[in-house]
Amino acid sequence: MSKRRIFATTALPYANGSFHIGHIMEYIQADIWVRFQRMQGHEVHFVCADDAHGAPIMLKAESEGITPEQLVGRIAAERKKYLDGFHIEFDNWHSTHSPENTELSQDIYSKLKAAGLIYTKSIEQFYDPVKQMFLADRYIKGECPKCSARDQYGDACEVCGAVYAPTDLKNPYSTLSGAQPVMKSSEHYFFKLSDARCVEFLKTWLDEAGHLQPQVANKAREWLTGEGDKALGDWDISRDAPYFGIPIPDAPGKYFYVWLDAPVGYLASLKNYFDSGKAKARGETRSFKEFLSADDTEQIHFIGKDIIYFHTLFWPAMLKFAGYKVPDSVNVHGFINTASGEKMSKSRGTGLSPLRYLDVGMNPEWLRYYIAAKLNASVEDIDFNPDDFMARVNSDLIGKYVNIASRIAPFLAKYFDNRMPGIRMGTLSGIPLPADTGGIAVAVASAKTIRGHFDEREFGKASRAIMEAADAINKEIDGFKPWALAKEIGSNPAAKEQLGQICASSIAGFKFLTIFLKPILPELAEAAERYLNSGTLTWNDADLPLDVEKFLPSGHQFGTFSPLMSRVEEKQLDALLEIEKEPAKVTTSTPHPATPAKSGVTPPSLSSPIKGEGVSSGADAPTISIDDFNKIDLRVAKITMAEQVEGADKLLKLTLDVGALGTKQVFAGIKSAYDPATLVGRMTVMVANLAPRKMKFGMSEGMVLAASGDTPGLFILSPDSGAQPGMKVK
Ligand code: 2FM
Ligand code: ZN
Repeated sequence: MSKRRIFATTALPYANGSFHIGHIMEYIQADIWVRFQRMQGHEVHFVCADDAHGAPIMLKAESEGITPEQLVGRIAAERKKYLDGFHIEFDNWHSTHSPENTELSQDIYSKLKAAGLIYTKSIEQFYDPVKQMFLADRYIKGECPKCSARDQYGDACEVCGAVYAPTDLKNPYSTLSGAQPVMKSSEHYFFKLSDARCVEFLKTWLDEAGHLQPQVANKAREWLTGEGDKALGDWDISRDAPYFGIPIPDAPGKYFYVWLDAPVGYLASLKNYFDSGKAKARGETRSFKEFLSADDTEQIHFIGKDIIYFHTLFWPAMLKFAGYKVPDSVNVHGFINTASGEKMSKSRGTGLSPLRYLDVGMNPEWLRYYIAAKLNASVEDIDFNPDDFMARVNSDLIGKYVNIASRIAPFLAKYFDNRMPGIRMGTLSGIPLPADTGGIAVAVASAKTIRGHFDEREFGKASRAIMEAADAINKEIDGFKPWALAKEIGSNPAAKEQLGQICASSIAGFKFLTIFLKPILPELAEAAERYLNSGTLTWNDADLPLDVEKFLPSGHQFGTFSPLMSRVEEKQLDALLEIEKEPAKVTTSTPHPATPAKSGVTPPSLSSPIKGEGVSSGADAPTISIDDFNKIDLRVAKITMAEQVEGADKLLKLTLDVGALGTKQVFAGIKSAYDPATLVGRMTVMVANLAPRKMKFGMSEGMVLAASGDTPGLFILSPDSGAQPGMKVK
């Protein structure tokens, strides 16, 4: 097989927030693939970077009273603990706010301009006269032009579903300052994607096999060939100052829109990696430029389905017409969802905090395995289901793979001087030997298929095939009953030989499985390598046809066996998912998903917004914007049922009528203050858009507000008479 030279990337995360499970899933997917390619002897350069630019980062920094550079620096500093924690080994981590990215973005732009693909046009946009900046649509709200619902975004009404332009809003206001925006024109720079050259090129690129998964190519083709108001427009690539971005050459006060310089960041990180000498350490002696322009270099991106548009249209066209290498593959994955169906995408990460996962001491390789077992090469979403997670890890990894070594190692140590009995083929005393019949034969036979699955990112299929081989080996152990054979040694001259053969065959099978699992479970594989005393295993070790004497020579000395992996325990999952047995304080239910505990297993008590983080005990709450406040969907709710909860000291189960939002069930920590019978029929106020949360007693779908202070007492809120269930509180 000729050596592939691969430049692999994952999408660059925005530098205004911590990683969430959507990021980690993508990195694990790419990391497994990269490790697999390296195990086959291919050269892979695997890079990423922070996506540092854009208005949200600028505004967030401003709200914290720091510079965007400081914000980006702070976020960058915390990346390592996640990446190391989950064994994700990028070769380089850089930033789009870097000299390399400035140089490359400006170079690409200049070449596009020279190719006649850039033009300017004056456009009218909402402008915030107080903040003195143009407003992206997400910073404008107002009343729905159709139903007059207040505080609706500029694209669609959440109340009546009407779709419109920001300019259609009645009484629009800037969410940044509250000021009424004015229309103002300014000159913008456009990339002429509609140019016949671009369209022709993209059509060909989309049709060429291997660049994209079929469903992704179809989607991109739809965008490319859309007509009427679906026609592919040119791309507005400029933003006016103030903006945190890269200046457009010869255009004072104009910056590249973040999505122009973000993908260029892939190249910037690669350049930084080459220029800093790290590529040499991987054996690549060419310069960045030579490497990137070489015919045999493969450029492979891993991204989520939410950013297909940018990566399959703009990015290849930009590269092509600037004279750069175009991507060889853009591999797209879906989102990871919680069991309750919430999205855990990059942009909507919630529910399963990767940091908390590490903090509660869960083994990162459990998650790597679970994600691998769920992933395939399609764009389908995957579910994180805690019960399935526990069952799969415990049954596959512990019950099947690790189990083989745990069962066999003691016999090898006790009866064979901890050395490899030579594998024999054929029969012994009329009994077919395992090497010919079972486990190892299945492992050997599936090696090629498993390799293919890894290459095609069909990790779910790969793990199933690996576990089938593990099953076959375990079944064979069951059949040969080494424990019984061991007892017969002394009375039956063939027993020791048979015991040796089942041990030899099983441990050789285990070695095979270790090779297969190594891209997914690098640390576990390392521990297995130590036991097997095999040195660093690569795919060459599994080359076929198998020479058993070479693979595990007779007399080979094994290392000391120690348990390779522990089981997932339910209490760890409870701690991870913050399934409280009972809340510590007042009202309760769903913790704010964006509030991961920093350490320890005790989840932060969400309590109430009245007591707890911020508001009570005289401490000043941090100032929030009206936009922050508007994120909380407060509703009038009627308590239709209030029940004791068996086994709970503090909770009552409330059934709430929330008008158009239907019925919600909430567990509230108000038992000490209320007799349930007195609550039925009362109106109160609830947070209706908290992520549902699984508690020991059932799902809690919101939070009822209650006041408490330093003196005893707990008081649920009531609206004034006349308020109806479902009314918004604002
Ligand atoms: O969607 C996002 O999170 C972007 N920051 C991804 C950028 S990918 C690449 F273009 F940089
Ligand atoms: Zn409306």
